Parts: sequence; structure tokens; C-alpha cells
Amino acid sequence: MRIVVARVEDFAPGERKIVTRGRRSIGVFRVGDRFYALNNHCPHLGGPLCQGRTQAWVRSSTPGSYQREDEQALIACPWHGWEYDLATGQSFLGPGEPPARSYEVSIEPGDDCAGEPAPGERRPGPFVAETFDVTVERFGSGDHVVVDTTPRSTRTVPSQGESQ
Ligand code: FES
Repeated sequence: MRIVVARVEDFAPGERKIVTRGRRSIGVFRVGDRFYALNNHCPHLGGPLCQGRTQAWVRSSTPGSYQREDEQALIACPWHGWEYDLATGQSFLGPGEPPARSYEVSIEPGDDCAGEPAPGERRPGPFVAETFDVTVERFGSGDHVVVDTTPRSTRTVPSQGESQ
């Protein structure tokens, strides 16, 4: 299932969006110019992992020297603080601890973004409208408004900003 999350310009660096499709809840994060997605379910006891705080990776090769890596981040579960790599879901509690489920995130041109619409989701056009001819006809005791429901070819209504 493909989920269209947001336009890139509506997704600021440092922001997160938690999307729900069916019973699945997924946190999508923008860290600098990178995007990451994790299942919003902590492998420890099922906490809402993607509501936790994130922080940049810090690496150190020698005592007293460290490098902050702003494009890579960890997330800590808000329930008990277990930490996971935002990119891979790897747990940092110890070997053998289960990872959080991570997902691929891609940036796609608007025209190619035809993900599954969520129930009730509205999407910009082009729309197809069913219309009927309406006429005023004179018969019997005067003028009458008449709607013609005879089937005809459908008409495409242009989307916003598009001329017909
Ligand atoms: S449920 Fe996430 S750390 Fe316990």
C-alpha cells in the first residue's frame, strides 16, 4: 500500500506527521533533507513510539572529541525511553532486542502520487461529473422545468487552475 503523506513544501525540517491507514499508524519524520518512517508501535510493550523525542546522532572517536550528525537521528519511546535508529529501526538497548519496523520513504512528482485514497479522503481533480440537461418546455397549462436523464457521455471537469 502506498500512502501519500504530504507535499514536500508542507513538511518542514524537524517536523513529523503520524498517518493512520486502517489499523496501521506510521510516523514520518523529516530530519534536515532526509525523510524516515517508522511503525508507531514500540517493540517493547507497544507504546506510541513515534510520539517520542528525537535527537541527532553523536559520534566520538576519542575521549573529548565528538561529532554531531544532524541528518541522522534516534527516537526514544515516550513510555520507557528505549531508543531506536530512525532510519533502520535498530534498537540500542542491546543485541537481540527487536527493531522497530521501518519503511521506505520516497519523494515523487505530484502527477505520480496516486496512492490509495483513505476512506473519505478528497483528492484534487480531474473530476468526472454527471450532469443532466434542463429545459423549460411549454405544454398543458404552462411552462415546466424538465430534467433529461437520458444517458450520454460523461463530461470531465477541469481541476483547479486548469482551463477547459
Ligand atoms: S513501550 Fe516503548 S519503551 Fe516500553
